[in-house]
Amino acid sequence: MTREDRGIGMQEKTRKPAFPEGFQWGVATSAFQLEGSPNADWTTWDPVLINVPQITNHYALFREDLKLLKDLGVNSYRFSIEWSRIQPRPDTWDEEAIAHYQEIIDILRSYNIEPMVTLHHFTHPKWFLERSPWHQTASIEKFLRFTEKMVSTLKNVRYWITFNEPYVILIGGYLDGCTPPGLRDVPRSLIALKNIFTSHGKAYDIIHRYVPDAQVSIAHNMSVFAPWKKWNPFDRLLKKSANYFYNHSIINAFRTGIFIVKFPFSRVVEIEVPIKGKLDFFGVNYYTRIHLRFNPLKKMGVELRYSDIDGHGLTRGLAKVLRYASRLNLPLIITENGIATHDTEMKVKYMKQHVDVVERCLKEGLDVRGYFYWTLIDNYEWLQGLDARFGLYRVDFKTLKRSPTSAATYYAYLIQSRSRI
Ligand code: BGC
Repeated sequence: MTREDRGIGMQEKTRKPAFPEGFQWGVATSAFQLEGSPNADWTTWDPVLINVPQITNHYALFREDLKLLKDLGVNSYRFSIEWSRIQPRPDTWDEEAIAHYQEIIDILRSYNIEPMVTLHHFTHPKWFLERSPWHQTASIEKFLRFTEKMVSTLKNVRYWITFNEPYVILIGGYLDGCTPPGLRDVPRSLIALKNIFTSHGKAYDIIHRYVPDAQVSIAHNMSVFAPWKKWNPFDRLLKKSANYFYNHSIINAFRTGIFIVKFPFSRVVEIEVPIKGKLDFFGVNYYTRIHLRFNPLKKMGVELRYSDIDGHGLTRGLAKVLRYASRLNLPLIITENGIATHDTEMKVKYMKQHVDVVERCLKEGLDVRGYFYWTLIDNYEWLQGLDARFGLYRVDFKTLKRSPTSAATYYAYLIQSRSRI
């Protein structure tokens, strides 16, 4: 299909890009979702993985996959290091695995693509979960050993993400129980929160010790919320609490060093964490608008409905959360944005609408430095298996063949037409 067929070509040709020179156009992935790992906690958590332990077999096919980045014309790539491959046992560092990730970095550099490395993207070595999960204080020291090993060994990385979506680790693992360690335990969730953010604060310092000009952040999932029924005071209260928790409490904590946690219908808890100022930019993952309904029959008393296509303020929501995040007075990077669908025209539309919003935000004066599309090739989606098609490239999970979708062609075109490289 040509650009003109899609009816967006003319607009693109005549527009004057607001994207500054050096804007980071990227895609984001996570290691486990592409390549699995025999030693990760998640491998035995989800039975779907028994038949497809290597998922897309990216661990072997990474050179071909990195070539796809070059074809897209991105100048940045966010990927993660699978901790359980690096440290399969507490006393073992797998040097071959370290060399594998260094090769990825070297290839990226040879393509002039800036690597952004995520240290923790949901998965852990099995031993970590068994011995010292996040609600144990020992978790901090374990994560910091891994961090130090990585920053002291991997060469030529400036951008580091310590944790991907810490709130998801807490909600999935400690409140809803749908992800490891599978608990539904509020007091432990608060201890885990303290330990995860303490780990971030200390990891920030370690990274800067080895890489003085490092740019360090977390990737935080921000969303916009709406009450399911506007007239329902419980739904409205839920909306208010979720908005505060997701979009404001974390920003306040990075400004003050104190987390204020307000569970609905419960007391306010204050937790001190050593993270004040421990950010060089702020990574925002943005996907969806969430409608909330109070329903005591559901887990945690909440029922959710997602809107991931526009018409209900979804894309405007991105501008909203970027404005919230701008209170940090730091550069902002959209570290993930994407949609799972077999309909690639919808994918193109979703991407264009969000990039348009980023452009409007730049014109408004927000300091947005990058946009990373989630994700390069179809992969394993947590809790949904292999059918959530987020990829710019389609993967046939039987033959493992990768084929470009029109969203890949369109992203390459967007990058070219909007940047001033
Ligand atoms: C996560 C990804 C996930 C994506 C789509 C993000 O919250 O970081 O790992 O695949 O959402 O659900």
